[in-house]
Amino acid sequence: MSLNLPASGPAVVAHGKGDLRIEDIPMAAPQSGESIVGIAYGGICGSDLHYWLHGAAGESILKEPMVLGHEIVGVVLQQAADGTGPAAGTPVAVHPATPAPGSVRYPADRPNLSPGCTYLGSAARYPHTDGAFSRYANLPARMLRPLPANLDLRTAALVEPASVAWHAVSRAGEVRGKTALVIGSGPIGALCVAVLKRAGAAKIVAVDMHDKPLEIARAVGADEVLKGDDADAIAAVDADVVIESSGSHYGLASAIKGATRGGKVVMVGLLPSGPQPVFISLAITRELELLGSFRFNDEIDDVIAALADGSLFVDPVVTHEFDLAHGLEAFEVAKNSAGSGKVLLNFRDS
Ligand SMILES: NC(=O)c1ccc[n+]([C@@H]2O[C@H](COP(=O)([O-])OP(=O)(O)OC[C@H]3O[C@@H](n4cnc5c(N)ncnc54)[C@H](O)[C@@H]3O)[C@@H](O)[C@H]2O)c1
Ligand SMILES: [Zn+2]
Repeated sequence: MSLNLPASGPAVVAHGKGDLRIEDIPMAAPQSGESIVGIAYGGICGSDLHYWLHGAAGESILKEPMVLGHEIVGVVLQQAADGTGPAAGTPVAVHPATPAPGSVRYPADRPNLSPGCTYLGSAARYPHTDGAFSRYANLPARMLRPLPANLDLRTAALVEPASVAWHAVSRAGEVRGKTALVIGSGPIGALCVAVLKRAGAAKIVAVDMHDKPLEIARAVGADEVLKGDDADAIAAVDADVVIESSGSHYGLASAIKGATRGGKVVMVGLLPSGPQPVFISLAITRELELLGSFRFNDEIDDVIAALADGSLFVDPVVTHEFDLAHGLEAFEVAKNSAGSGKVLLNFRDS
């Protein structure tokens, strides 16, 4: 290694259910297409919490210790040896996906749907794909997106979840001048509000069970907020576009009730696998369009540009920041969605 990098660095490693450790991991020599990135910030996501609390995220079950983290930004410390990717010193966001084209058919322009696609910090495959909640990470150079000079790393820490939100909103098509309803105002829902605002939605109503997420939704552009799941109040919104971002079947029922006749419901909240009891008959008689939304593709470039030019405003979504020495506390705070939005780990201060 040409740089004076230590042989190991601290990382957040999930060892199994309830067993999260901050420990030193050895630095492997990077492969020829890999850059060494000094991680600055990492956002804690629901899937990170699931690996910690349940030893699994949906069907992805931890079989061996795994470094968590896919919402990461940092600075390139060493360019990839094959000369690809940004030069040393470049601040970067990270696209965590590695599509895996194979024999199973999927739309060529939607690599997010490629079966076998891997994602940083995911136990979907074995061996697992380590994430990058670590002071240093070897990352494929093709994952790195240089940040414009006017986009600071802390704001850029939201690039990954904002790309999920951007993709979800784009699934609904044109939203300019329309009434939008967002069910579930956690980080993903709040970022959907921000993206809808930027895209020119005429009226945005955000729903949640708690005050704090609704406060954040308002701060990023919701015109009205509704607390709870009062079916009549939600139906009265009569929305052209509904984003379901609670990840609960109760939320999906609210989404369907809140959609106008002929409206669109984008489902970005991840329901548990298996049958779900959902009030679905209205979707038939109202000719609703139900649209799935999964991760994102090149939307990450639009998000970076929109954050840099100030047209996408997301600052209130980050509510807490912890240095790595207090990493376990950060996970405790992130677990409580009634009291926190996005919780960031700062890998540089520790
Ligand atoms: N499709 C994708 O690619 C993708 C990517 C990232 C996250 N997600 C999913 O998006 C969802 C939201 O993520 P997040 O990080 O914001 O999670 P979160 O848990 O922080 O937020 C969910 C919010 O929904 C609220 N809620 C729960 N039930 C509700 C109901 N019946 N009505 C209204 N609000 C309700 C909760 O109070 C909470 O504030 C999760 O299911 C997550 O797994 C999906
Ligand atoms: Zn995430």
